[in-house]
Amino acid sequence: MVKCRVNCSDIREIEELKFNEKLARKVDVVLSDISPNISGVWEVDHAKQIELAEASLKITLTLLCSGGNLLIKTFQGDLLNDFVKKVKKSFEIVRLVKPLASRAASSEIYVLGLNFSPTNQKLTGKLPKKTELGAER
Ligand SMILES: C[S@@+](CC[C@H](N)C(=O)[O-])C[C@H]1O[C@@H](n2cnc3c(N)ncnc32)[C@H](O)[C@@H]1O
Repeated sequence: MVKCRVNCSDIREIEELKFNEKLARKVDVVLSDISPNISGVWEVDHAKQIELAEASLKITLTLLCSGGNLLIKTFQGDLLNDFVKKVKKSFEIVRLVKPLASRAASSEIYVLGLNFSPTNQKLTGKLPKKTELGAER
């Protein structure tokens, strides 16, 4: 049986340690399809989307098991490159992917990170101690 836990928090305000305490173990995959309400002002929407992607990445660093994979929605724009560089610090393989289901006219594009390496992570997200996370894979 697959168990599912629903958390309706604003991702930017989640305290990673408390979130982790509820998990029996680290997760294999993080999928983030989060996006803001679109204002129509491209620069604003792009910046908000990257902010949400950064929040997803920060949580990923504490939730994902070693060797795990990540898929995060972003919007194309001038902030995307820096975000991809951050993802590259923690994943062996990083690609930009546009699923067939995504409209060609849409600026959405997904950042795929494969083979997470927690020891490589140099981002600001704090890694909790193992004992705070429960069993590690
Ligand atoms: C494109 S929809 C995702 C749809 C989802 N894949 C589905 O099939 O239901 C984007 C979602 O991001 C959520 N969202 C936007 N800002 C958020 C935030 N700061 N924290 C958590 N969720 C957020 C919205 O509520 C919305 O449900």
